[in-house]
Amino acid sequence: MTTAQAHPNIALVKYWGKQDSPGNLPAAQNLSITLAGLTTTTRVSEADDDGIWLNDKPTEDAKISRWLARLRGTFDIPPLHITSHNDFPTSAGLASSASGFAALITAINAHCQLGLNAEMCSEWARMGSASAARSLFGGFVALVPPLWQAVPLAMSAHWPLEVVVAVTSNEAKTVSSGAGMERSRLTSPFYKTWLRDAATDFAQASQAIAAKDFGALATVAESSCLKMHSVMLTSQPSLSYWTPASIACMDGVRSLREEGQDVFFTVDAGPQIKAVCLPSSADAVAAALAATPGVLQIIRSTLGEGARVIG
Ligand code: PMV
Repeated sequence: MTTAQAHPNIALVKYWGKQDSPGNLPAAQNLSITLAGLTTTTRVSEADDDGIWLNDKPTEDAKISRWLARLRGTFDIPPLHITSHNDFPTSAGLASSASGFAALITAINAHCQLGLNAEMCSEWARMGSASAARSLFGGFVALVPPLWQAVPLAMSAHWPLEVVVAVTSNEAKTVSSGAGMERSRLTSPFYKTWLRDAATDFAQASQAIAAKDFGALATVAESSCLKMHSVMLTSQPSLSYWTPASIACMDGVRSLREEGQDVFFTVDAGPQIKAVCLPSSADAVAAALAATPGVLQIIRSTLGEGARVIG
């Protein structure tokens, strides 16, 4: 039996849309931070037949089954009993598939002695869920061509940002990110502009992280997030992942910034708001978001480490 842990990551420069080629490749480079405060723990052991338990319930997951079949096309892997547990809401815009695939390949790699290094694990995680490639590493992480294996940009200690997550719904999303991004690629009039801007956004965010320039990172991260949601909203049929409380939290973050707090928001394919802040602003941000009507739960996080075997 082998157990691995991984954390979700949230993209500050996002991708939304895949390349029209095999390998589950994002259409544009992207950049994330890994969150210590949310954890997926995955355990694998040999069994008579494959079986997957997610959060203590037996699960039929076509995405995981397809991915396992692909892995078995390259490696000799026996039937596996897999249990995976998230200590946070699953499939609700908190990147559970990212931490899930990162923990799964890390556990299988160790258990079945596949001999993969972290970059190769990142590539296999990406084939399950593109954002999962980034959860192999901690701190600030990039997913870039030509290899599309994640690359660590800076350790958490370089710039110990904090993240306050405002949970506004515990419902699983009705349109998966994979289906949503394909809809956007085919129908949003803004899709081409979105892809065109990605390289500039990526360069600006990388420079802001290297220089620890919070204002510059705030500007480019909010812009990347809102451009992605504009592409979603202008897809046919329109994709809207926000609740009224999501919008109230974004307004709240803007007000906090006007009051002098160092904070910006980012939102993925779900209704949760992630407020990224300097540690000196974290208490004020958490208090303001907790007091926002419709916020169900606050999760606070520092930046975390990459996927690892724990036993
Ligand atoms: O790779 P997926 O299927 O987990 O989709 C990720 C989509 C976003 O979280 C919205 C953007 C991103 O870059 O993580």
